[in-house]
Amino acid sequence: MTDLEPVAPAQPVMPAWEYAAAPESKDIVRLQDRYGLFIGGEFVEPKSGRWFPTIDPSNETVLAEVAEAGEEDVDVAVTAARSAYVTAWRDLPGSERAKYLYRIARALQERAREFAVLESMNGGKPIKESRDVDLPLAAAHFFYYAGWADKLEYAFPAMKPTPLGVAGQVIPWNFPLLMAAWKLAPALASGNTAVLKPAETTPLTALLLGEVIQQAELPPGVVNILTGAGATGASLVGHPDVDKVAFTGSTEVGKQIRRAVAGTSKHLTLELGGKAANIVFEDAPIDQAVEGVVNGIFFNQGHVCCAGSRLLVQEPAFEQLLDKLKVRLGTLRVGDPLDKNTDVGAINSRAQLEKIGELVASGVEEGAVIYQPPCDLPERGFWFAPTLFTGVSQSHRIAREEIFGPVLSILTFRTPEEAVEKANNTPYGLSAGIWTEKGSRILWMARRMRAGVVWANTFNRFDPTSPFGGYKESGFGREGGRHGLEPYVRLEPVS
Ligand code: NAI
Ligand code: MG
Repeated sequence: MTDLEPVAPAQPVMPAWEYAAAPESKDIVRLQDRYGLFIGGEFVEPKSGRWFPTIDPSNETVLAEVAEAGEEDVDVAVTAARSAYVTAWRDLPGSERAKYLYRIARALQERAREFAVLESMNGGKPIKESRDVDLPLAAAHFFYYAGWADKLEYAFPAMKPTPLGVAGQVIPWNFPLLMAAWKLAPALASGNTAVLKPAETTPLTALLLGEVIQQAELPPGVVNILTGAGATGASLVGHPDVDKVAFTGSTEVGKQIRRAVAGTSKHLTLELGGKAANIVFEDAPIDQAVEGVVNGIFFNQGHVCCAGSRLLVQEPAFEQLLDKLKVRLGTLRVGDPLDKNTDVGAINSRAQLEKIGELVASGVEEGAVIYQPPCDLPERGFWFAPTLFTGVSQSHRIAREEIFGPVLSILTFRTPEEAVEKANNTPYGLSAGIWTEKGSRILWMARRMRAGVVWANTFNRFDPTSPFGGYKESGFGREGGRHGLEPYVRLEPVS
């Protein structure tokens, strides 16, 4: 025995490193008090005489008033689109149409910061996402389809494509500009004209796109943008002179639209909800999987149709994965969408916040175990803390219904067969994720997933060259890639 006690290794004193506020400036955005409808290349007053406010969901301040298009306005816009189709667009050589699309793409790049800030102000998503995901992808979509405009005759072997006419396009609020790009780029590239209706909570970047369309000098009426809510969307879908309807949004409204066009000659594509399984096997690279799971459900506050909202973990990996997920959740910064360090922004609307709250309450009531990291939510605006549920059974509402918020339901499985069974046990089928070290298992699983997109050892990857779309109640039709042209053309065998 020596009387010298072993010296305990010095514990480094770690101060709590907080990020200083790093807000992106709003100066680049010039808001107008009021925005009219974009019809025939001009911003015009609505014949309905109605206007509604649009807010910043992070603080509930009113940003501007926008026009609410009534039935008469819809008719004027569809007429403008028809006239542009016949006189200016349908017969334009593809190489000429391409020039306009390239101009739009370049203008989006040049004005990317303005668009990104406005997107975050009007929709609540973190600036790092609107800046690094929404804007680059929107521009990339226009670039990609510009490339197809003069090559359509090679897109479908032995088939001759011709445009359909006027496309009526209704889009949601989770990726407002990006969904406008997904809809407009393939429609215009293949020779159609369009009437686009953005969602009622996020009209501002679509209206700014109207400015870009003026800047690109598109023939008036090729693109028309009508703001308004569900009634405006319904009149557009129901207009007799619309040839093609494209919708992204809830499954409920998708079903209404399908009924509305039944018995007409209108072409239809629907991109609806999802309840994707993100499946982690015990041999998965666990830290990488944690990042993928977090990205899968907390990206864009979980307002993502293909969000990995059901985590299926192989039993031996469950404890470790859960511990790591909890630690990682504690590091997510929730708050000001315009702060460059923000990971999780504001919930898009009060209605969506209430829906998330109701489903989370059902999870607790039905016996699942809730976990939320300590986090200070701003007082004004719409916020929801990142949330995990364990002890979830397949019959729980939180395992079956689309929550469309930052809420992850965790289930476990033992064998690959059980994982397949559970993953496909849903009315939806938009996407799936598989995390494993084994390539053969990825292929085995991917073949069995009834989902339009299957990601392997990654999640939420998007590329304009890659088709995206659903099975079952997630809808039908593909967007992106060569497949994305198909819904906008009539194909006849080359004689
Ligand atoms: P929604 O489906 O009502 O809205 C999407 C778009 O459709 C908006 O532009 C809206 O004005 C329009 N619309 C509404 N009713 C219409 C009708 N009868 N005819 C034509 N257009 C119509 O979605 P909402 O109410 O904003 O969200 C409800 C739920 O839907 C969300 O909680 C989420 O679960 C899901 N959703 C899914 C999306 C997805 O991308 N899969 C996108 C938005 C919502
Ligand atoms: Mg709705």
